[in-house]
Amino acid sequence: MRARKWVVREHIEGVPDIERVYGQVEEEIDTELAPDEMLLRTRYVSVDPYLQGIALDTPLGAHMGADSIMEVLEAGPEAAHRPGDLVQGFGGWRTHLVSNGAPTPWQTGTFPMVFPAYRRLDPRWYDDALPLPTALSVMGGPGMTAWGTLTKFMSIRPGDTVVVSGASGSVGSLVGQLAKLAGARVVGTTSTAEKADYLDELGFDAVVVYRHGDNREAVREALLWAAPDGVDKYFDNLGGPVTDAVFSMLNIDSQVAVCWQWATQVGRDVTGPRLLPYIMFPRAHVRGIFSLEWFTDENWRALHDELGGLIRRGEVRCGHTLHHGFENIPDAYRSLYQDTGASRGKVLVEL
Ligand SMILES: NC(=O)c1ccc[n+]([C@@H]2O[C@H](COP(=O)([O-])OP(=O)(O)OC[C@H]3O[C@@H](n4cnc5c(N)ncnc54)[C@H](OP(=O)(O)O)[C@@H]3O)[C@@H](O)[C@H]2O)c1
Repeated sequence: MRARKWVVREHIEGVPDIERVYGQVEEEIDTELAPDEMLLRTRYVSVDPYLQGIALDTPLGAHMGADSIMEVLEAGPEAAHRPGDLVQGFGGWRTHLVSNGAPTPWQTGTFPMVFPAYRRLDPRWYDDALPLPTALSVMGGPGMTAWGTLTKFMSIRPGDTVVVSGASGSVGSLVGQLAKLAGARVVGTTSTAEKADYLDELGFDAVVVYRHGDNREAVREALLWAAPDGVDKYFDNLGGPVTDAVFSMLNIDSQVAVCWQWATQVGRDVTGPRLLPYIMFPRAHVRGIFSLEWFTDENWRALHDELGGLIRRGEVRCGHTLHHGFENIPDAYRSLYQDTGASRGKVLVEL
């Protein structure tokens, strides 16, 4: 059958130059399935900032990987899922694919890892309150990242000051709301005034507008003003000058979760004040976040019960920006890097 995919054509550092990096290819795929294989049709694709690194590590000419929701069209007798099943996995920017859905090693990356096996989405878990695309947002990787960090590492106490950088996105907006429910004073940084209004609506106590490249001293002063009692918990999505400032504001027994470093990975800002002295006196705990470690059946069920329950009761909100059409996937991805203020919460593409 005819299928389309986006492939990586060029490796370009920094903010992705979409036209040069990606090219569309139409190909004939062989639908003679091995006993354990499935023919899958992609329904939704997730676009995420970390794909910048994945693209750099993808061999030229290979399809672009990405988290997706797929429908099983056909399946061999020994396949893990049956026709009609909906599954979530790292299917990529492809309209159709043949796969056995097994865990896939990713060896070309800077840090070798394994993409988990395709996960069957139980239809009983999805309804109007938690529609299917949430399997890529609040009930998927971003939700697991936020919930996992707050249940398995960060112990937020009432009255804590929590700072979340890059707060308007899918993960940051959930972390901020969960921290607020735990009784914290929550400060977010975000890149536009429009997104700052959105964070106000979500209940953030203070918002600092900062975009990569803005004045370092100005963001430091704004953070000192927004968190006059110092910082007890820092969820870092950005790195760079925001992180430099926050480290110098850490309180005793503070905790720092490093989820992503926009400034280093995309902005190529690799220098800054040496930060280790700042964690010595406050005896801060700094932990890298790698949410795949929490992708277990038990955690997925708990995520649905706990975070899903909060969404159903309207105590936590989860925004989506939905783009449409296979040909618009690169444009949806580009929107993550544009200063339009239009994207809120998780950015997804419905095929
Ligand atoms: N470590 C892990 O296990 C793990 C798991 C999931 C996701 N992640 C990573 O965590 C980050 C957040 O994920 P997400 O799903 O929330 O992504 P998202 O919804 O796309 O949000 C990304 C955030 O990056 C910020 N940003 C984008 N361009 C920027 C610029 N030029 N200057 C400053 N900030 C900019 C934006 O924040 P503001 O506009 O609000 O500042 C945006 O909210 C992503 O980078 C993602 O790749 C890591």
